[in-house]
Order: sequence, then structure tokens, then C-alpha cells
Amino acid sequence: MRLVALLLMLMTMFIPSALAQSVALMPQPAKYGVSGGQLAVDQNFSVFLRGARDARLESEARRFLLVLSRQTGLTIAPKLSTSPQATLVVQIDHASKELPELGEDESYTLSVDGSGLLLKAPTTLGALRGMQTVLQLVTPVTNGFAIPIVNIDDKPRFPWRGLMIDVSRHFQPLDVIRRNLDGMAAVKLNVFHWHLSDNQGFRVESKKFPKLHELGSDGTYYTQDEVRGIIAYAAERGIRVVPEFDMPGHSTAWFVGYPELASAPGPYEIERHWGIFDPAMDPTKESTYKFLDEFIGEMAKLFPDKFFHIGGDEVNGKQWDANPQIQAFMKSHKLKDNAALQTYFTNRVQKLVEKHGKTMIGWDEILNPDSPKTIVIQSWRGAESLSQAAKQGYRGLLSNGYYVDLNWPAARHYAMDPTGGAAASLSDEEKSRILGGEACMWSEFTSPENVDSRIWPRTAAIAERLWSPQGVTDVNSMYERMAVISARLDFVGLNHNTSYGTMLRRIQGKDDFQALRTLADVVEPVKDYQREQLAATPPTQSTPIIRLVDAARPESETARLFSQKVDAFLAGTADAASKADLRVMLAHWSNNQSDLNAAMSTSYPLQEAAPLSQNLSALGAAGLAAMDYLGKEQAPDGWKTQQLAAIEQAKKPGGAQLLIMVADSVEKMVQAVK
Ligand code: ACM
Repeated sequence: MRLVALLLMLMTMFIPSALAQSVALMPQPAKYGVSGGQLAVDQNFSVFLRGARDARLESEARRFLLVLSRQTGLTIAPKLSTSPQATLVVQIDHASKELPELGEDESYTLSVDGSGLLLKAPTTLGALRGMQTVLQLVTPVTNGFAIPIVNIDDKPRFPWRGLMIDVSRHFQPLDVIRRNLDGMAAVKLNVFHWHLSDNQGFRVESKKFPKLHELGSDGTYYTQDEVRGIIAYAAERGIRVVPEFDMPGHSTAWFVGYPELASAPGPYEIERHWGIFDPAMDPTKESTYKFLDEFIGEMAKLFPDKFFHIGGDEVNGKQWDANPQIQAFMKSHKLKDNAALQTYFTNRVQKLVEKHGKTMIGWDEILNPDSPKTIVIQSWRGAESLSQAAKQGYRGLLSNGYYVDLNWPAARHYAMDPTGGAAASLSDEEKSRILGGEACMWSEFTSPENVDSRIWPRTAAIAERLWSPQGVTDVNSMYERMAVISARLDFVGLNHNTSYGTMLRRIQGKDDFQALRTLADVVEPVKDYQREQLAATPPTQSTPIIRLVDAARPESETARLFSQKVDAFLAGTADAASKADLRVMLAHWSNNQSDLNAAMSTSYPLQEAAPLSQNLSALGAAGLAAMDYLGKEQAPDGWKTQQLAAIEQAKKPGGAQLLIMVADSVEKMVQAVK
């Protein structure tokens, strides 16, 4: 450290640093220390690579400068410096292999002083992770941008930190995949699990079996060149790509072109609805395995990762029950039930996967007593099955609790720990078999327009759970940092924030959509699988994804902050400003109905929101009245009973399939009135 820098640091140490407090790192590093003081960031920011050479590191360092430039608005040339005096010096011991692999060293250290940053890592991969940390450290300050003086010593807790995107139910074009890979890299996720086939679509070009994509996809599929492009794009960012071809169920789209694979005669059509369906591959025919041998061989070459996902979930067995030839096979092979038949299938497919040089991974259902210990179990049904698998010697991943399509709050995902719950009592050796987890984006209700908003920012909280030490569990800190990271993700091209306005504007049918936004800000889509259950007519693949429920965020930040204010108010700890804020919010909602009403008659997609809007106004009025009655006035007879009944009504989702998330807090206020 140069003397000037040291002096600067000593000087600044005594200044309480607002900057240090505003730094939002997500995932939180394993170890870090903030000493006060800052390093200014301006358009002269430069990067010098020292140590081992690596073409990938060079291109990533240039990309770092591009993102820094986007994030700050400063004109920074994406050109590497030839001077060791550069602002950021990146030093690696040796280059990583071109394609990332499970378990590679991703650690790095970062030290910042008043003159610059030094990022050191054993491998390229660690340097990539560290550069993302540097981008998160850059914060606006009064006279520009700065990085706080910090020391970071970081490494991941789990080696497998994934995001699954289902591109079958709704296809997602390449730009969506690429920007989500950028988002993944920003929060240090390292596995893109590509759910490429299901009942509703087969999404990869097969040269061996072209009717798979030609007849199974409506023309929306990825060519093999495009797949290679995505794999290269991901690898540059240190992300592995694991393909999933779901079998023997979830496979109707295969049967459109190849009905002979199915357990009942065709013809088949691409499934347009959501749910669990009967079609399943015929596990008793040798021709099925011959087909799969060739198909897996082709895809094993296309996807270079060591792991190959064969799905295996949710076979209802109805086609097997109804097929006399299959029943006879089960009898002659002493397969006592459909689970045993699926085991027979899984174990045959496992041998094919292995023959083509890959390790099989699948959902819980693939685990059986004959499974070789090499396979990996992805637990979607519960943490219990993951810990069972680990006990029996299998490696596994947690996805139960990480389904981002279920519209849960980030805190609920954050509370799920791969080695918590049922796995907490495992031995260290058993725990070490738990490789990590994956957020899962199932795509019944996603379009290229809203998919980012279903994934982000909540997936950043899951990313933190998988990277940061187990003890990092402060929910308030998580939410504070997630809000900052959410805004940062705009700069890598994700549209989870911007599409909100675009979609609301369309729903409103004009540029002024402020009243609609007020309503949208406090609602959330119904949870779990309620959308299917509440639908008047079953949604299909061609149902437009343009409703308020499709635009509304899975988690309302406004409602969360409102609830904190209400709790403080009721606990008697709210100050005058906070009480005034509460009144402003409630009055705003109370008046919103008349503002929104004017637009209803001209907007068809807005009409279903009418009851919701009335309820929000009623809640606003009830909250205001409760504040008055809690202050001094006596509530009239029957007021409380009447309000509570109305609130109960307002909590029901109704046809709009939306929940008003401030209802619970208003109810608490009304309950508190004597
Ligand atoms: C699954 O959700 N059926 C894996």
C-alpha cells in the first residue's frame, strides 16, 4: 500500500462512511471487513491482468468495463490496461478449463485501498466471481461514484447453485436466456438448468430425429448452433449448462412426431393445457431404448456438461395400466407396480446416459434401491427426500422451497437451507453430498415480457442462500440489499423492473397509469397452484399473458414496508413522521378508486380489477378510521365488526387472481381498536 493511500485511509477511518453502509453485496461474501474511506471511480477506471493468461478472463474483464460503464453512465473504454498501476489489478494463478465443471475453485480475495483494487484468485472462475463483487461495490456518492475501502475473502458454500428455466410450456427466445445468464453471473449462480422438453413443447433441434422439434414445437425451438452459442455465452460467465429431457412422463411433445415411443396408440398433439397428463414412454419396448440411445448420444455431444437430466417426475401410470402388453411385461419381469416399472426404465436409461459419458441427474422419483451411487437427485417434493438420498450415499440438490413460479416472498425461499430441516441431523460426510440447489422457473404463466419479473429479484436471495455462509440469515438485511441488487440488474439487461411499467401501460391503455400502479403496487398474484384452481376457464398455452396478475410483482415491496410501519405504530414505537407516512399511504389508497374508475370503461383488461380497486379503497378508509379511533375517538357501535367482515371479503382473490397484500396489516389496525 502506498503511503499516500495509507494516510488517506487513516484520515477517512474516522469519518463515518455512509458509503460503507450503502454497499449492498449479494450474495454476502464469506468474510469481509469495511474500514471506512473510499476509492473514487471515474472514467479513467482501468483493468490490468497479471499472472496467468486466459482469453476468457480477458473477454470477461472487457465485459466488466462495459457493465461498469452502463452502471455508472461514464464513458469507459472496454480496453485492458497495459499498466500495473491500473485501478483494478486481477491476478490468477492458473487459467480454468474452457468449460466450467462442478467443484472448481471459485474463491477470490479482494483488497481495496485509496489507490486501487487487487483481485486475486487461484482460477479464472474465482476472478469472474470477484469482478462481479467489484461491480456491486461501485456506489453513487455526492460527487460521482466510489468503492469503499474493503477487504474480502470469499468462496461459495455450495458448488452447485442453479437456475432452471422451463422453455417448454412457454418458449423463451435467446435474448431472454442470455440476459438471465447475465443476471445469474451477477449473483454468482453457476448452473443453468435448461428444461427443454415437456408435454407442451420439444425445444431443441434433433438432427437424428427431426420430427421431435419439427412437429413438437410450433417452430419455436433452438437450433443446435444456437444451443452451442448459449453454452459458450454461459461458459464465458462461468456457468455450466445442464439440459433436461423429461422422460418417461411429461413427454407428449415427443409423441407428436414419434407416437411409437408412447404407451398408447396415437395420434398425439402438443398439449396446450397445464397439469399432469397420461402420455408416457413405453418402458417395455426395446425400440424405446434404441431410440433413446441414439437421442441421448446426439444430445450428449451437443451439451458438453458432465451431467444429463432425464426428468423422471410425475408419471401417473394410466397409459401403463391400460396397456395389456405392458401389464404382461410387468408380470413376466416380476415388476409389482408402476413404480417398479419406472425403476426398470430409469435404470436402463441410466446405463445409456453413462454409455454416452454422462452422469444422470433427475427429480426425486428416479431414486430407487438399484440406482448406482453416481446419480444426482434433485429434490422437488421435499427436503426429506434429499436427506434420505444423502443418507443412502447419493448426491443431491434442493429445489423444494425454491420454486419461484409459486409467487412466494423472498424471505420464504431464503429460509430454506439445503442442509437445514430434515438434513440438519446428517453427518458431515452425508451433508457433503448435498451439492446445493436450484431456483426453478416453471413457465405456465410466463412470457418473454414477464419472465424476468418472476425470476428476479427473489432468485438473488436464493443465490445468497447457496453461496453465503449458513449463518447469513438476517432477513431485513437481505431485503435491503436485494432492493439495491434488483436495481443493479437493470444494467445487465434484465427487464424485471422495466416490464412492469410497460405492461401496466398496456393494461391502462394510455400513458398515465399512476392509479393503476398504485393498485398494482400492493397486490400479488395468488400463491402456489391457485391460478389454475381459480380460473373460470382453464388457461392454455395461448392464453395471453397480459393481465394485471401477470404484471403484478410476486412480492409487494410496498405492502412489506407498510406492514413494518403498522407494526411499529401498533407497538407504539412509530415517530410522528412515520405516522404521517401511514396516513398518506392510507389516504392515497382510499382515494385511488375514483382515480382508477375513470379508466375502467375504456380498458377491457382493467375491468376485472374493479372489485380489487374498491376493496383497496375500503381498506384505505378503514385504516384511516382505525388511526383516528386508536388516537382518541370512540368507534361507533358495530363499526369494528363491519370492517372486519369487509376485510375478510377483501382478502379473497376473486376473478383477478390477485391478493391485496395490505389487508392483513389493516386488519391488525382495526383489531386494535377497542
Ligand atoms: C416437478 O415439479 N414436477 C419437478
